[in-house]
Amino acid sequence: MTKMTGNPFYARGPVEPQYFANRRELLQFFVQNVEDAAQNKNTKPDNITILGNWGIGKTSTLLKFQDIIHNDKKDAINVFSVLFSLKPSVCESADVFTYSLLDAISKQYSISIPLKDRIGAVIKEEAKIWEQWRLESISLSPELRRKSRKLDLVDALSRLWSKLENKGINLVVIMIDDIHYMLTEGWSGSLYDLRTDIQALATGGTKYLFIITGPKFIYTSMHEMAEPFTRLFERFELNNFDLAGTGEAITKPMRIAGINLEISDDVIEQIHNITDGHPYFIAGMMRDILRIHKKETLTLYEFEQIKPRLIEHLARTKFEDDYNKATDTEKQILLNCAQLKNKIFSPSEIESKSRSKLLERLANKELLVKLERGKYKLYHPLFKEYLNNISQK
Ligand SMILES: Nc1ncnc2c1ncn2[C@@H]1O[C@H](COP(=O)(O)OP(=O)(O)OP(=O)(O)O)[C@@H](O)[C@H]1O
Ligand SMILES: [Mg+2]
Repeated sequence: MTKMTGNPFYARGPVEPQYFANRRELLQFFVQNVEDAAQNKNTKPDNITILGNWGIGKTSTLLKFQDIIHNDKKDAINVFSVLFSLKPSVCESADVFTYSLLDAISKQYSISIPLKDRIGAVIKEEAKIWEQWRLESISLSPELRRKSRKLDLVDALSRLWSKLENKGINLVVIMIDDIHYMLTEGWSGSLYDLRTDIQALATGGTKYLFIITGPKFIYTSMHEMAEPFTRLFERFELNNFDLAGTGEAITKPMRIAGINLEISDDVIEQIHNITDGHPYFIAGMMRDILRIHKKETLTLYEFEQIKPRLIEHLARTKFEDDYNKATDTEKQILLNCAQLKNKIFSPSEIESKSRSKLLERLANKELLVKLERGKYKLYHPLFKEYLNNISQK
């Protein structure tokens, strides 16, 4: 029997930092950047953009960053951080955005234990002022509100910085997860505003490191809409794992959780091929394997036996929802794409008058991936298999 101490694999939310696999280059850049800025008074940090499609590990990476600064590096640097997850409602106006970000700072900040008491008092004090500003601001008419700008992000963060610096903080990391809501739902000029604020904070001598995440497709529009915005950030892309990364995502959690199951290399390779190295599918598949297979080894033969169950489960949890995101016309296009011989195809291979628009919409829904030179592919080979099964029914 496998000695089980719980199932470390979980696909419905970000991975626990201790099980986080791969992404070495990005983690290294982050650590170096944070250390340089925190340890040298005159070094400004480099802001970071993390681009990656659905389920590829954007939020997991931010949580890993927090874990590094507040646990691994807690004796070397004093860093204050906040993870702010954007929602459409937060982007409706500059005031709502500013207040929501300040609110996140006051309620969800992270810090290493030794600093907690000292910083807690400062934050409470500031939060009272922010709340007062907000109340005054909502009592004004929209025109007056614009003129008086009670809720000024730069003012608030500059004050906060000088207080935190006095308490020994060397750097503040502000992570904004899912920045695309700003682009799709934000007030007009929202990215320009944010850029201006980030720049003002940097030139004002404060030490804020901004990290933003979003799907890859936003980069082009971000670049077009606010080119100076993209210049402010060092850009990283999260892609599917290579074979070694898949191997780490499979073996690391089992080793740390003390699970006694030897998975042969050919099985790891099979999982890599089936999932295409996508972390969400690897986690989902491994969770099921530990649930179904109660032995100390897993051979390729045994894996082949349970494989249909694994794939069927993935289809039920993910692909049905994906398929239902598409309108009826878009569904036809998807089925059409799945039947094409080649993985990568051009719009001319699709039978529809408005194919360009439909393909574009499916790419925005993250069901297709748009590649260079106007080519497309289905977002995952398993999704292709799922669509072909539908066609056959
Ligand atoms: N580096 C990693 N190591 C191990 N597992 C990972 C890693 N990154 C992501 N995962 C797995 O992939 C799943 C999706 O991760 P996460 O929620 O962080 O992605 P996301 O890009 O934020 O997704 P969304 O687009 O839904 O916001 C997680 O459940 C986790 O199991
Ligand atoms: Mg996420």
